[in-house]
Amino acid sequence: MKKKISEAEAKKRIDFLVEEISRHDYLYYVKNEPEISDEEYDALYRELRELEEQFPHLKREDSPTQRIGGAPLKEFKSVKHKVPMLSLDNTYNEEEIHDWVERNEKIIGKQKMTFVVEPKIDGVGISLRYEKGKLKLGATRGDGITGDDITHNIKTIRSIPLKLKDGYPDVLEVRGEVYMEKKAFEELNLKRSKEKLSTFANPRNATAGTLKLLDPRQTAKRKLNCFVYQAGEINPQPEIKTHWEMLEYFKRMGLRVNEHIRKFDTIDGVIKYAKEFEKIRDTLQYEVDGMVIKVNELGLYEKLGTTLKAPRWAVAFKFAAKQGSAQILSVDVQVGRTGVLTPVANLSPTKIGGVVIKRATLHNFDEVKRLGVKEGDWVWVERSGDVIPKITGVITSKRTGKEKDISIPQKCPVCGSPVFKDEENVAIVCKNSFCPAQIERGLIHFASRKAMDIEGLGEKVVHELIERGFVKNFADIYRLKIIDLFKLPLFKEKKAQNLLKGIEASKRRPLSRFLFAIGIPLAGEKACEILAQKFKTLEKIMKAKKQELEEIPGIGPKMAEAIIRYFSLPVTKKNLRELMQLGVRPVEEEERVKSDKLKGKVFVFTGTIPIPRSEAEKLVVENGGRASSSVSSNTDFVVVGENPGSKLQKAKKLNIKTIPYEEFLKLIK
Ligand code: IVH
Repeated sequence: MKKKISEAEAKKRIDFLVEEISRHDYLYYVKNEPEISDEEYDALYRELRELEEQFPHLKREDSPTQRIGGAPLKEFKSVKHKVPMLSLDNTYNEEEIHDWVERNEKIIGKQKMTFVVEPKIDGVGISLRYEKGKLKLGATRGDGITGDDITHNIKTIRSIPLKLKDGYPDVLEVRGEVYMEKKAFEELNLKRSKEKLSTFANPRNATAGTLKLLDPRQTAKRKLNCFVYQAGEINPQPEIKTHWEMLEYFKRMGLRVNEHIRKFDTIDGVIKYAKEFEKIRDTLQYEVDGMVIKVNELGLYEKLGTTLKAPRWAVAFKFAAKQGSAQILSVDVQVGRTGVLTPVANLSPTKIGGVVIKRATLHNFDEVKRLGVKEGDWVWVERSGDVIPKITGVITSKRTGKEKDISIPQKCPVCGSPVFKDEENVAIVCKNSFCPAQIERGLIHFASRKAMDIEGLGEKVVHELIERGFVKNFADIYRLKIIDLFKLPLFKEKKAQNLLKGIEASKRRPLSRFLFAIGIPLAGEKACEILAQKFKTLEKIMKAKKQELEEIPGIGPKMAEAIIRYFSLPVTKKNLRELMQLGVRPVEEEERVKSDKLKGKVFVFTGTIPIPRSEAEKLVVENGGRASSSVSSNTDFVVVGENPGSKLQKAKKLNIKTIPYEEFLKLIK
């Protein structure tokens, strides 16, 4: 039974609920600091909706329920921008940025110029117009002069306030970028492929497609987000002298401004920051395709002026491209170290971010099905950092009908054994542990950088050694003689000696790396580190009971079982015995720990510190502590370098002690 409530009471309650829900929207979507649970939020929302149904005439225009109000549109109205929405000129290297600064210096003469640098969000540029603090218009950039009125869709974006905070001017028009987070984009594409709809090539296209929907209820489901970064029309003009202050002003109005924006007095600082930022771009939840460098002093804007389509007071510094398109010429099936079959596409060569790409992974056969990809298809290819490029979508409009289905192999393409689906039903596996492909990949892994780190023993050399029958297992590596190596083409004396030196040095690697190298099924780098720290010696690990292993955080029942099974195999025992006989002696943890100054303490590093992160983590371990890559309630210290990432925020949220790098050094002095 609903309580009877007078109209006056209803109005009071509606006013309260509108303000309260808007406040929680701000805390959740703009500040990323929620105060209440989703359930509590839903209860407030439901109460407001019910009151508005009971008293429709009390419904406020800025009510959060109005975010998804209104019927679908028939078409978009055009709107003319009061201040044109310009574009940006691009630069691709340091030199071009210096040229930009020099050109500006010539124009402004002796006046001082400083800079603000912002991530260039890869989304869709929009304009938001607030009149008397209320959101009146949301529009696309269009051709810069006229855009589409997309207010109905803009209102569904919760990080865009419907009402500004107190202190707003009569008119505030801001520019920003609407974007879709990578996770939401992947979910959307997955859903669409299940429904046999075409998928979007990237989050930007998905955003553009979403903003073009005529029914706001559909838009609301797609989880868009927004950052603002530039002023349009403001009336009356506030007393603001720099772009930096303008961004602060936006924040005071309750608008969402990106947290990675920085200001610098010199362009060298800007360039250093931009380059560092490029390295962390993949860790962000949204796509960034470069940095935007803006002159900070607003007083210089008029003098600098604009070219035909772009202002001179700003410039884009574009990162190396990540996406391109190519045609699948054929598909190979590779067999990995653990027997998993991976389809790999041979592509028509395509240049992405300055690198020619000829091959890309399709991950597994489920992915082939999910993408609906065929041999001969034109596809979107993505590369990030050093990982192998991957295929992210099919360009169905380029199909000719001549494309061929990619079939799931019934036999291992290398050894011919029948293949099986793994437990999760995703991977197709060759279970023959003597499969030459598995042996080869296993040896490559053994010698790789994060494992035994044997210099000179890369893919090609391993392949040669196997082909010639010199090496069949790990132990054979330590039996290699210089005379054998001389028989390999291209192996001159120096190279052979260096390889033997590398092999010798690998005999004393930390236990954790040795464990990782031998390839215990399911045990990754982190798990091996945990095992080494917990048991200290290989002997103790080999004797560990299942229960003991299961109870270790980070190991779990499945991995525990795999570890037990692995060490109980006669072939494992034989291999390990042989390695030991040949002088391989992993450095046990006891020997590695130099002090117990950080005993039991968990450290996480964020931002740029003066030494490589792996070195810093080694210092932690050597002093009895543990290094982790992510912040959790178990973390004791977060060591903060320059330009820290989201880990710093998380630490603050969880109330974890943060210290600068210098202080960390003092702890181990
Ligand atoms: S300022 C006149 N700042 O990049 C200056 N633009 O390629 C207007 N963009 O049309 C733009 N992040 O849609 C600016 N922090 C940022 C940006 C940004 C993304 C977009 C914007 C612009 C396009 C130019």
